[in-house]
Amino acid sequence: MAPTATSSVASQAPATAVADPLHLRGLTVWPPVVLAPMAGVTNVAFRALCRRFGGGLYVSEMVGARGLVEGDARSQLKAAFGPDEQPRSIQLYATDPADASAAVRRLTDGDPGTGRAPVDHLDLNFGCPAPKVTRHGGGAALPWHTDLYAAIVDAAVTAAGAVPVTVKLRLGIDDEHLTYLEAGRIAEDLGVAAVALHARTAEQRYGPPATWSHIARLAELLSVPVLGNGDILEGADAVRMLTETGCDGVVVGRGCLGRPWLFRDLEAALAGRPVPPAPVLGEVIELLVEHARLLVDHLGAETGLRELRKHTGWYLQGFPVGRELRRALNQVSSLDELGALLAVVDRSLPFDEAVRRQFRGHTTPPKRVVLPTGWLATRSHGLEASPDGVAVSGG
Ligand SMILES: Cc1cc2nc3c(=O)[nH]c(=O)nc-3n(C[C@H](O)[C@H](O)[C@H](O)COP(=O)(O)O)c2cc1C
Repeated sequence: MAPTATSSVASQAPATAVADPLHLRGLTVWPPVVLAPMAGVTNVAFRALCRRFGGGLYVSEMVGARGLVEGDARSQLKAAFGPDEQPRSIQLYATDPADASAAVRRLTDGDPGTGRAPVDHLDLNFGCPAPKVTRHGGGAALPWHTDLYAAIVDAAVTAAGAVPVTVKLRLGIDDEHLTYLEAGRIAEDLGVAAVALHARTAEQRYGPPATWSHIARLAELLSVPVLGNGDILEGADAVRMLTETGCDGVVVGRGCLGRPWLFRDLEAALAGRPVPPAPVLGEVIELLVEHARLLVDHLGAETGLRELRKHTGWYLQGFPVGRELRRALNQVSSLDELGALLAVVDRSLPFDEAVRRQFRGHTTPPKRVVLPTGWLATRSHGLEASPDGVAVSGG
């Protein structure tokens, strides 16, 4: 039996709760937990699996605004939602206000012709540190040019109408070029529903621990909700971040990789209930197989099982299953083969507490941020359009 999943939509906090629901304009989210947008990870399949474990807001992987507007097939696939998915939440990446506006209109209008329903929440990516993004002045580089940043946020908020828009920021480019306080204030003035802060600079990538004191500073400054992000690995971390920083919700990235049951633990901790014990290997395997099935449904067998490979290692982290099995699992070509390989393991093996706080996914150490020539010399952009990355990954 996989760890017990709970209903995915609930807006009421129980009487024992140690946190309040998150309000994003008309959208109420209980518990105040957000699945962080993660390129190549938070697709329909992973969101469906995570949502079974608890309430919250489950954001799509990053979708390039221009690709979406141009009808690029990969962008459309990334922007897909499950038939029962509610709320439908998407992250957009744009470096041009006109693209942002057109993409937001398209997403908030839906498409009655194809049955595509309108989205319920939009997040704008201003946190990506990847060179292929920052080289064009996108992602975490963008808020440095405050006029362009403001124009994109304004375009998105205006086009979104009643649909709540949030921005996801890093602290800045590096310690000498922090942008989050100014960018948070600008976004609030332009009508965003909340500001999420990944408390690392772009230069820090995923290396040093997130500096939560910056989340506290932003929460102190703004009236709109602030969502804290960085290093939430277990239920107690969420309670601690809310208490220590005064933020209104938590954004969870790497902590849930290979551990979709983290959302059950977060909901329990924030509801003031005991966090259930970690699953044994048999339960983890059921989740791995279910994840595989969802990926195959969404992407077809070949692509789905190829995508599964990165998750397999994350699920099995800490379990002594042997190198041979890990290697074989990375080559499976059918769900039957996957099931047969996993049939031989000792399903009673306990979760290894020694790996609970080890990261999965990105662990990139600090690295100089690649910027367009002269980018730091001025805070003003002059509002020229830059190329939008369609096939870019990372945050
Ligand atoms: C594999 C991976 C892909 C990511 N892709 C995105 C992305 O597309 N957009 C974004 O805003 N952040 C992205 N991020 C950053 C996360 O959203 C989050 O800010 C970061 O992992 C810090 O949170 P954590 O310490 O809980 O992992 C990505 C992170 C990982 C590990």
